[in-house]
Amino acid sequence: MPALMPGNRVLVQVLICVLLTASRIASEDSRSSGVIIENEWKCPNITKHPSVECSCDFPHTLRCTGDKNALQVIGKRLRLFPAGTISLLDITVSEISILPARFLDGVPLHGLVVSTGELRRVNENAFVALARSIQALGLPNNLFETVPSLALRPLIGLERLDLSHNKLTTLEADSFAGLTNLTYLDLNDNLLSQLSPQAFPSFGSLRSLRMRGNQLSVSALSALRGLQNLEELDLSGNRLIGLATPNLLPRMPTLRFLTLSGNQLDTVLRGALQGLPNLTCLSLSNNHIDVLQDHAFRNLSTLTKLELANNRIVAVSSASLAHLEKLTSLDLTHNFLRSLTADLILPLKNLQELHLDDNDISMVASDVLTPNLRLKRLSLADNPLNCDCTLLDFASWLTNSTSLTEEDRASAVCATPPALENGILAQVSPGSLLCGEPIPPFATLAPSLPLIPDTQITLESVYYQESRTINLVWKVEPCSKPYTCDRVIVNEWTGDSEVHLATRPLHCESADMLDPCTLPVTIPASLNLELGHRYRYCVAVIQSGDHVVPVPGCSDILTLERNTALKTPAAAGPRIAGMKTNASDDGFLYVDVNLVGGGPRDPADCDLSLVVFSEESIVRERKLNCTRGYATIADLAQGPYRVCATVVQGTDHTEMQLAPRTRCVDVTVRGVRESARLEIVLFAVIVVACALLVAALWAGRSLLHRTRPTRIQGQCFLPAEEFEITHRARYVKLLTTTKV
Ligand SMILES: *[C@@H]1O[C@H](CO)[C@@H](O)[C@H](O)[C@H]1NC(C)=O
Ligand SMILES: *[C@@H]1O[C@H](CO)[C@@H](O)[C@H](O)[C@H]1NC(C)=O
Ligand SMILES: *[C@@H]1O[C@H](CO)[C@@H](O)[C@H](O)[C@H]1NC(C)=O
Ligand SMILES: *[C@@H]1O[C@H](CO)[C@@H](O)[C@H](O)[C@H]1NC(C)=O
Ligand SMILES: *[C@@H]1O[C@H](CO)[C@@H](O)[C@H](O)[C@H]1NC(C)=O
Ligand SMILES: *[C@@H]1O[C@H](CO)[C@@H](O)[C@H](O)[C@H]1NC(C)=O
Ligand SMILES: *[C@@H]1O[C@H](CO)[C@@H](O)[C@H](O)[C@H]1NC(C)=O
Repeated sequence: MPALMPGNRVLVQVLICVLLTASRIASEDSRSSGVIIENEWKCPNITKHPSVECSCDFPHTLRCTGDKNALQVIGKRLRLFPAGTISLLDITVSEISILPARFLDGVPLHGLVVSTGELRRVNENAFVALARSIQALGLPNNLFETVPSLALRPLIGLERLDLSHNKLTTLEADSFAGLTNLTYLDLNDNLLSQLSPQAFPSFGSLRSLRMRGNQLSVSALSALRGLQNLEELDLSGNRLIGLATPNLLPRMPTLRFLTLSGNQLDTVLRGALQGLPNLTCLSLSNNHIDVLQDHAFRNLSTLTKLELANNRIVAVSSASLAHLEKLTSLDLTHNFLRSLTADLILPLKNLQELHLDDNDISMVASDVLTPNLRLKRLSLADNPLNCDCTLLDFASWLTNSTSLTEEDRASAVCATPPALENGILAQVSPGSLLCGEPIPPFATLAPSLPLIPDTQITLESVYYQESRTINLVWKVEPCSKPYTCDRVIVNEWTGDSEVHLATRPLHCESADMLDPCTLPVTIPASLNLELGHRYRYCVAVIQSGDHVVPVPGCSDILTLERNTALKTPAAAGPRIAGMKTNASDDGFLYVDVNLVGGGPRDPADCDLSLVVFSEESIVRERKLNCTRGYATIADLAQGPYRVCATVVQGTDHTEMQLAPRTRCVDVTVRGVRESARLEIVLFAVIVVACALLVAALWAGRSLLHRTRPTRIQGQCFLPAEEFEITHRARYVKLLTTTKV
């Protein structure tokens, strides 16, 4: 048997469908003639000819492969067997570009599939002898540029036609003339961009139309007018761009399944798709949707399943999901939702399945949890839940919920605070869902540093002057709080390690600056930085405000060139998913950093830097490679510390200058030593970047989001396998009960 080409699954469906009919006919025949034929059917032996190879997968079906003589040989041989021996024939032949006239005369087939990979034309008399009997015809995986309509015209009883995986570019007015009984038409994976308005003229019988993977634009869709009995329509993977308007599709009163996934729709307008009063299942996955207008689904109140996965939805208002009262299943995975609110849930009175994996959900509003909420599935995996006291109700709802699966209950995982990171929400003790400062001793011992400073400093450009001075331009975001400059630091990458080159004090006062958001810094010629060498630059500023906070910013390691404008940070490489610290009573601090992503970790390319600092200064520094994410730091005096871990990639790719790959946690060492004295002077010198915004992490996440490979597209239609299995099962049943 030849390797099945893509399309052939449908082909198998076609075959099996016809097979059912065939066996039904056969069983009727045997009943009417009063003869019971018991297991007497034998696969005809055609293999006598060297150029053909055949086998039977099922009774009355024959699959053959061969060269250009195969068609003739098969026709000749089959004519020798009694009519009805074979009712389905699936031929894969090579070296043939035209299907000849009458090549199967005298063989009353119900189903025929011919794929050659090379077929371009069909003689107009090719199928005339089959006109009475044939119900299913497949010509997939060929090179047709137009529908062979003259050859098809005699096939008035044809019910299923498969022209998938060809090179069809247009459908003409008369493409399917005469095929008045067609119920299933597969045009997947062609190059269709134009459809004549009369392409589907009197297709009163068509139930299922598949046009996945073509090049149809919105304007082509009006040609679907007149498909008054269509039930399934697949338009995924086309060029539908922009607005999903009320009249995107013409009126199709019986349409129940519609797939528009894999297009570039960006907005679902109020009353979208209003001509589909019977639609139950709609897939809009893998589009660019970021706006669902209020009352978007006003005219789709019959929907029971809606797929919106892999879009760009940030928020959903209650009005945008209004009218979906029959909806039982909603898929919003891989979007950018920030929270799960009542707006999303309340309009959906019959919701049973809600999929929210891989969004940016950090909080779940407690008003979501009405007694009417009867979910059977709720998946929340891969969301940055902030497990504080606001999640108490949700946690207890999850814990108590009996209808959810164990897997679903475990899908809600805490991202913050650090103490609960990676904790399964349903298993976290309610007592640890706290609001406010998580580490009381820290708060009492020292004016607390906010866990993550909310200012970010990134390097925007590097200019090398002929005078050998270097101008750095840093961006400070947000820049509303006044700050003063502290110092600038330069490290050199020698090829195997990073060497501290110089630290220079830096003076500035944001209040005096024209644009405090842009911080220019000059590195003097005296440092002798050389073109082609690789450096890392850091600055620290001191922000005044509620707290006095040192804020550092570092670049990645950059090759010094004359002009380097840096792009937005790309979140490539590993990032820090979590960090655990454990301080013991005798001054030991154990730090464990959990790294994720980034593909294979070349230790030469990736370092993990740990910096421990107490209020006034760095007290310890550790370089780890990315394969070893933990360290024990000894001899720490009693007191509060902040531990920051940063992933440092030693590449010179300028676009990777400052990926958000830093995390900090605060920890208190209850040491017995009283040696260290807490100094009051605040300053931070951080050799490697520390304490970037959580927001930057989220930004990085979002970037990751977009580059993440998309899942298999949601299909409203029965997946082919299921289709096959059920039919096979029915077929087997049929066999055992009717003994074909
Ligand atoms: C088919 O015929 C060929 C040649 O007569 C013979 O070698 C082969 O065994 C036969 N195959 C079957 C399945 O009967
Ligand atoms: C077309 O379908 C109808 C209804 O299924 C059937 O009665 C009729 O015989 C079919 N026409 C042909 C030519 O097979
Ligand atoms: C919707 O479908 C149902 C059952 O499939 C059918 O009875 C009804 O007539 C259809 N509605 C319209 C407007 O065609
Ligand atoms: C869409 O819904 C609105 C409001 O319910 C209604 O006025 C309008 O007639 C509907 N459109 C169609 C085509 O049914
Ligand atoms: C969950 O169960 C616990 C103990 O069985 C109970 O105290 C609590 O009130 C329940 N919570 C909800 C929301 O039903
Ligand atoms: C964390 O600290 C506790 C108590 O000091 C100790 O028993 C435990 O072994 C520590 N865990 C690690 C991983 O060091
Ligand atoms: C990473 O560091 C650990 C401990 O220092 C060391 O055993 C390991 O060999 C290092 N891996 C590489 C690839 O350098």
